[in-house]
Amino acid sequence: MGFFEQKNLSVMLSAEQVAARVAALGEQITRDYVGKLGADELVCIGILKGSFVFLADLVRRIDLPLVVDFIALSSYGDATESSGVVQLTQDLSRPIAGKHVLVVEDIVDTGLTMKYLLENLHTRHPASIKLASLLEKPTKNQAGVKVDYLGFAIEDKFVVGYGLDAASRYRNLPYIGLVTS
Ligand code: IMP
Repeated sequence: MGFFEQKNLSVMLSAEQVAARVAALGEQITRDYVGKLGADELVCIGILKGSFVFLADLVRRIDLPLVVDFIALSSYGDATESSGVVQLTQDLSRPIAGKHVLVVEDIVDTGLTMKYLLENLHTRHPASIKLASLLEKPTKNQAGVKVDYLGFAIEDKFVVGYGLDAASRYRNLPYIGLVTS
């Protein structure tokens, strides 16, 4: 049995379900920004490391001129509960002042990481900031972070795959899965 079909993994969202939703989000984002950008391009900011798979698929569904940048934050370490203490471990490569920014995240859980990041980005005076997140656990989002483009609302379970990890593993699963043991 291969790594993708281990006995201790169950599929929550299949690769096909994720692909269809990502395509729909890309179309919605394209429609929303097409008249807004003028001669400018959209700045898509991926949050490392978890968003790299979602970002790669999403940008190929956004039919607009855009640039990609990355920012790295650490929140959990190897633990599975958010501490609320967020550290910026790698900054953007370019200023975002006056730019239309789309932050691309894998999952909003307590929302603490995103609240910190959005506050930080606002101080750099972009023209606008919106948030795309593949997943949200709405029952846990205590920080009141608003996801503008949401893939799926899920129940409060720890998920892996499609970029999401458990102790750095499983990022390469093509689907969103639950580790059952
Ligand atoms: P928050 O600050 O609680 O919203 O946590 C956000 C970060 O925690 C995400 O960017 C993920 O890296 C990680 N995280 C939260 N829930 C999960 C999960 O179910 N699986 C994997 N990582 C998660």
